[in-house]
Amino acid sequence: MVLEKESFKGEAYQAQEETYFDDGREIDLLHFLYGHPDLDEIRGNPQRVLDAIDEYGKTEKYLMNIGEYKSKTIVDLIKKHKPNVMVELGGYVGYSAVAFGAALRDSGGKRYFSLELNPEFAAVISMVVDLAGLSDIVKVIVGASSESLLRLRREQKLQDIDILFLDHQKASYITDLKLCEDLDFIRAGTILAADNVVKPGNPPYLKYVRSTVEEKRRQLDSEDEPFQQGNPNLIYDSQFVEGWEPSGVPDAVEITTCTGVQVS
Ligand SMILES: C[S@@+](CC[C@H](N)C(=O)[O-])C[C@H]1O[C@@H](n2cnc3c(N)ncnc32)[C@H](O)[C@@H]1O
Repeated sequence: MVLEKESFKGEAYQAQEETYFDDGREIDLLHFLYGHPDLDEIRGNPQRVLDAIDEYGKTEKYLMNIGEYKSKTIVDLIKKHKPNVMVELGGYVGYSAVAFGAALRDSGGKRYFSLELNPEFAAVISMVVDLAGLSDIVKVIVGASSESLLRLRREQKLQDIDILFLDHQKASYITDLKLCEDLDFIRAGTILAADNVVKPGNPPYLKYVRSTVEEKRRQLDSEDEPFQQGNPNLIYDSQFVEGWEPSGVPDAVEITTCTGVQVS
């Protein structure tokens, strides 16, 4: 099913330059937030933190955040399904961690894990989450997502994932999803929310989550040494939800629900 998007309203972020991250802008954002004239009102208020990050993206430099349009799709999912545990793959400067961590807390959830590869970005996420008053809910984990997922399982800090938000390296969406399947994090009721399935796009991931159990079994049988096996018996129901990048460029989020396990 394809859900219709509204038109892009309001002011867009600055355009995405050739070098659009890791050039000092993430630390610059911290100075912007902590030097903001409204800092007292921003402190402890997730929406004001998001507004201030958006203000930086609109008036200073582009940031590769999910932005207010596509994040609304996922906030609505959180309100509806009231997850206890969420995991995000790729945290950057904490925009999604603040938006979804606050929604999870407000709907009675317990823990939001933000997995981020770059230790400097992870430090920024921690400061932004702290500013929003969400440090009790959002746990930032530094390292490659696959290593962090394995460690969380080994240390028994993670058993089930209610909502998995995929927003890191595009080629890792499918391998990390299969790893989560292998680690039994995915079960009936788990929801996968994958960002950027139009810009830049992720055909292998879309093919996988839109495949039937039989198609996935056949594909797995045809691979001599699969990089990551996964569990082809999980039944997925997937929806393409259109939206906008904060820069005004069209994009979409793929929302996939695991509806059960096919045994025969
Ligand atoms: C698009 S940004 C995430 C944006 C963030 N989710 C938001 O909307 O506010 C992608 C992030 O994924 C991180 N990343 C890339 N590969 C990763 C990996 N293998 N494990 C964890 N994080 C990774 C990058 O360092 C970057 O911060």
